[in-house]
This record gives sequence, structure tokens and C-alpha cells, in this order.
Amino acid sequence: MENFQYYTPTKVVFGKGTEDLTGELVKAQGCRKVLVHYGSGSVVRSGLLDRIFRSLDAAGIDYISLGGVVPNPRLSLVYEGIDLCKKEKVDFILAVGGGSVIDSAKAIGYGMTNDGDVWDFYDRKRQAQACLPIGTVLTISAAGSEMSNSSVITKEDGWLKRGYSSDYSRPKFAVMDPVLTMTLPKYQTASGCVDIMMHTMERYFNQSDNMELTDGISENLIRTVMKNARILMTEPENYNARAEVMWAGSLSHNGLTECGTDGGDWSSHQLEHELGGMFDVAHGAGLAAVWGSWARYVMDARPERFAQFAVNVMGVDPAKDDAGTALKGIEAMEDFYRSIDMPVCIRDMGIEVTEDQLNELADKCSHFGGRTLGVVKKLTRDDMYQIYKNARG
Ligand code: NZQ
Ligand code: ZN
Repeated sequence: MENFQYYTPTKVVFGKGTEDLTGELVKAQGCRKVLVHYGSGSVVRSGLLDRIFRSLDAAGIDYISLGGVVPNPRLSLVYEGIDLCKKEKVDFILAVGGGSVIDSAKAIGYGMTNDGDVWDFYDRKRQAQACLPIGTVLTISAAGSEMSNSSVITKEDGWLKRGYSSDYSRPKFAVMDPVLTMTLPKYQTASGCVDIMMHTMERYFNQSDNMELTDGISENLIRTVMKNARILMTEPENYNARAEVMWAGSLSHNGLTECGTDGGDWSSHQLEHELGGMFDVAHGAGLAAVWGSWARYVMDARPERFAQFAVNVMGVDPAKDDAGTALKGIEAMEDFYRSIDMPVCIRDMGIEVTEDQLNELADKCSHFGGRTLGVVKKLTRDDMYQIYKNARG
């Protein structure tokens, strides 16, 4: 096993009605003025935003608001948020929504506390030295941004989707009421479940000598999400299933499932980010569309690990060798994706990728030949091209 640091400073407030505690949680942060940041309307329609405002009013908090965050959140709104927060002297950001809203809040937080262009961090030109404190009220179980150190932003100029990670951005608190996720469209619920599973799978497929404990947590987490995702396809208002998935979403991406590992592979995420940037697909769906292609391409580099996954997570009977078992596990995962109406190739998302676009995806994903991806098997630009091509469908 590898040495590790585990840092999860986020206070979790979980359960029915916990959003009504938001005002008091913000007040405990000792801030002067709050930006309430939200998405494209679901929190307005559900009445959640009004309840949050009432909770802030009751706690005597001064606040302003900025909505309009879209999935694959845009850099232009981040700039707008930074200008607004500077003008209004905001010192705390409350994100009410999903990963996109939280990531946009984190980017605004970086822009408020560091000089220069905030995109520089996402462009890997320099490191942030601080971030405004962030609080979250989560409305979708998926990205795990409510406890993670990451933020993913899309720059409209060139449609580049890039992530940036630093512990400064880990939220101070996360309010998680599973009831809030019951209004999600089925597709978003399923897409979120895939993302949650993938945050653990990216870490599970590594080149480490793994810890039994971390493997056990990881395997159980993935199985639990699969089981409850299936339930939610027919019972969207099943509280316990919503709760299992919601807590899994946070634990999957707060670092717990990488303890003792080398950090994991993460190629599927990087491959998906370009799909999200160019075609604006839902993140989890994009992951499901490329995962099988990635897994088949790299499994020979670590067949025993894929075989362990196949048996312990997917419950398949071992074949005569690890490679055979590994393949059965990959097929079983694709069957699961289909069972919750998730894609297993890019065409399943209604996108016909042209040859030029395959090359554009590979160029962007490899930072125009400037980086490789992954640890299971290091992927060059041409490998990325091949994986996209095999995922085309
Ligand atoms: O904008 P509104 O109207 O709220 O609608 C959203 C959006 O259309 C809707 N929604 C959210 N909660 C709802 C709801 N609709 C009805 N009822 C509710 N309770 O769902 C749609 C998706 O929301 P979004 O925030 O985009 O979802 P998600 O949490 O999956 O976030 C996706 C983004 O996070 C990034 C992804 O790349 C993508 O840009 N990621 C962020 C990570 C991180 N910061 O750690 C890690 C992930 O790997 C991921 O890359
Ligand atoms: Zn993800």
C-alpha cells in the first residue's frame, strides 16, 4: 500500500429537512455577505430557493444571488460572478444545486482571492493560493463536489472543459437532504449514479498493491449504488435508496476510496471531459459511453485487477483465466448501464462523431500531444484516438 493523506474538512449535515438549518450553518461561518449561487431553475420551481432565503433571513444573513449556472458550467458566468462579488464585497458563497453550481462557486471563490485570470488555474499555468469559503445545499447526487477538492469549468472560447483541484476549495459544509433529489429526471438520477460509481472505479483501477480495507469499501460502495440505482428507476421517491446514493456520492469522491492507492487512473474522466466540452453531454452518461472502450483497451495491462472487479463487484463466475473473467465483468457493467438507460457508446447519446471530430477529441484530450493519461496503461494521443473510435458505436 502507498502512504496517504486523508483530508475531509467538510461538515456534513444529512437528512430530511436539513436545508432549514442552512441559515445557522452560514452564520456560524462568521461572514458579512453571502452570494447564493444556483442553476437554471429547478431550485426556483421546487421552492427550495425560497426556503433557503427564508432560512438566511431568519439567521439575519445579508445576501445577494446569482442564478443561471448550466451543466458543464461556463467560464463567462464565473467572470460575471467574480465582478458581482467584488462589487458587493461578498465573503462567502452558498451553492444551492449540483456539481455544476458548486464548481462554478469554487471558481468564483478562486477568482475572488487570487489576482489575474482565474482560467490560468484550469489551464495549469499556476496554482491558487486561496479560495473564498464555500457552503453547499446539494440537490443531485453525482459529482461529489460537495466534499471534493475539484472544480470543472468549460471555457466557451474553444469549448475546452478543464478541471482544477486544490484543498482550498473543499466546502466548509454540505447540507444533504435526500428528499431534494426526488424531483430529478430519471436520466439525471441514472447519470449521477454512473458518475458516483466511476469516482470509485477510477481509483480502483490503479497500479498499486491495494489495501484490503479500501478495496472492501470500494467494492461495497459500487454494489450499493448499482442496487439502489435500479430501485430508483421504478421508485424515484424511495427515501432510503435516495439516501444510500447520496451518501455514496460524497464518500466516492472525498478521498476515502483512494486511501493507500496511487490515486487511480482517471482516463475515463479525462476522455469524457472533452465529450462534455464539445457535445455538452451529461457527465455521467458520457462516462458510461467511453468506459467499456477504455476498459477493453487497457485490461491486458492488469487483468487480475479487472478479474477481481468482475467477481467482487459484478458477481460474475470466474472464466478459465483472468482475461476471460475481466471481459465478463466489463460486459456485465455495460449490461448494468443499459438496464438504467445509460449509453454504452457515443452513438447511444444521439451523437454521430465524424473522423475530424475523433481527431479533435484526441488532440484536445492529449493537450495537443502534451500529456499522456492514466496509470493502468499510459495512453498517448493515438491511444486516446483509438479509444474514442472504439467508443463511437
Ligand atoms: O440547473 P438546474 O435547473 O438546477 O438543473 C439541473 C441540471 O440540469 C438538474 N437538477 C439538479 N438538481 C435537481 C435538478 N433537477 C430537478 N431536481 C433537482 N433536485 O440536473 C442537471 C444536472 O445538474 P449538474 O449540477 O450539472 O449535475 P452534476 O452534479 O452531475 O454536475 C456535473 C458537473 O460536475 C462536473 C462534471 O464534469 C459536470 O460539469 N464534475 C465535478 C466534479 C467535482 N467538482 O469534484 C467531479 C466530477 O467528476 C465531475 O467532473
Ligand atoms: Zn465524475
